[in-house]
Amino acid sequence: MNEPAEARDAASAPPFWRQPRLWIGLIAAIVLVAMLSGEMAPGVGLPLLVVAVIGFFACAILTGEPPVLQRLAEKVRPQEDHVEGEPAVHALIAALPEPALLLTPTGEIRTANSRVALAIGPAKVGDPLSFLVRVPEVLEAVRMAAEDGIPRRVEFAERIPLDRWLEAHVVPVQLKPRPDASGSKGAAPAPSKPDGVLLTFRDLTAQRRSEQMRADFVANASHELRTPLASLSGFIETLLGPAKNDAAARERFLGIMGAQARRMSRLIDDLLSLSRIELNVHVRPDTVVDLCGILSHVRDTLGPLAQDRAITITLETDGSAMPVRGDRDELIRLFENLVENALKYGGTGQNVDVRIAREPGTQGDVAAVSVRDYGPGIAPEHLPRLTERFYRVDVAASRDQGGTGLGLAIVKHIVARHRGRLMVESTPGKGATFTVRLDLSDDAAKNSVNTAA
Ligand SMILES: Nc1ncnc2c1ncn2[C@@H]1O[C@H](COP(=O)(O)OP(=O)(O)OP(=O)(O)O)[C@@H](O)[C@H]1O
Ligand SMILES: [Mg+2]
Repeated sequence: MNEPAEARDAASAPPFWRQPRLWIGLIAAIVLVAMLSGEMAPGVGLPLLVVAVIGFFACAILTGEPPVLQRLAEKVRPQEDHVEGEPAVHALIAALPEPALLLTPTGEIRTANSRVALAIGPAKVGDPLSFLVRVPEVLEAVRMAAEDGIPRRVEFAERIPLDRWLEAHVVPVQLKPRPDASGSKGAAPAPSKPDGVLLTFRDLTAQRRSEQMRADFVANASHELRTPLASLSGFIETLLGPAKNDAAARERFLGIMGAQARRMSRLIDDLLSLSRIELNVHVRPDTVVDLCGILSHVRDTLGPLAQDRAITITLETDGSAMPVRGDRDELIRLFENLVENALKYGGTGQNVDVRIAREPGTQGDVAAVSVRDYGPGIAPEHLPRLTERFYRVDVAASRDQGGTGLGLAIVKHIVARHRGRLMVESTPGKGATFTVRLDLSDDAAKNSVNTAA
């Protein structure tokens, strides 16, 4: 497809037998010979002159010169695929950033760029389009566009090998100059059928997925807010009506209403933090903080919850400082979420082990923080979806614990902002281990470390 320039120029030059100058010279020579021989041998000159005149018309028809004979030449010459400047068309198709094919009006592949092979499949010049694309709507659009010259757009979905959405643009094109393009001035160009169809594809999958995620997110967020709101309205009605004078019921209902209001406010806080972290995800924090200090702070904060569940949080370090470039509040939030999950879903009466260790990484050492519980664990099919917003393995169990299903989505974004890695390992029945790896910042630590816990 990437021919050298000389080859393209050679291919675009008309063949020698279509050079008018050659034929004019040849005929002039024949006429001259005919006239001279007429002088010398009477009786030979006239037939030669007739042959010369016939030859002239024949070559005029073949070469399309002069213009008055162009139409006749068009009719007599065999219809070839060759288009003036076709190599340039090939080069243009090859340069397009999207998968693109040029088709004949009858739907055969004339040329295709290399992106077609990657996105659609291997395209062979001369094959009908239907060998490559088996979507009836696209084939029909190509047929109609070649017929009426109107561009079309077709959206279609593929299920195999992967779900994806594509958009095909079908644009009829006029590659050969119109017969009257250089002809009579002022006359309207004669309507002619397209002599090619440009077919390009656009992958809409990423766009569709993000639209779907946005729609799911709005639906989930409104559902999560509406549930406590409905409960609040119900209790208000009860308190204004049947339970108006029931002091005990009022006491109990107000307690539930308080819990629901806190749940709503927590959900709004989580949504706001998620969008704030997402907004700053490309800005890596530039302060240096000590992870050991952050982890002991988290262990102390969650001490009361651990006590309630008869769980012991153990914190294991090698005693050395673990400085990382990070946002202290966000890192506290990250490890609070992981340790809280381990406490909530790890089963009562068990241990939760938090361990920090230095490990060699690709660019210097990394700090690996693992949070391990000994609860029921997580089935493998849930693991890839855990960090999706509102995704919960057991919705009722999470709600009972006051969960919003946003914790791990927040964790994922904080880890991304810190250019770290999150790994989840779990064997059902044997607990789960969440590990976060962050680059250590030993050099920066020598200048300033915020170790405040
Ligand atoms: N250590 C764990 N063991 C078992 N399941 C877990 C563990 N951690 C998370 N999960 C599962 O993953 C789900 C998503 O966790 P995530 O932290 O995102 O939400 P949540 O805990 O339900 O709500 P929130 O964190 O907002 O309070 C949980 O609902 C739970 O089903
Ligand atoms: Mg959680």
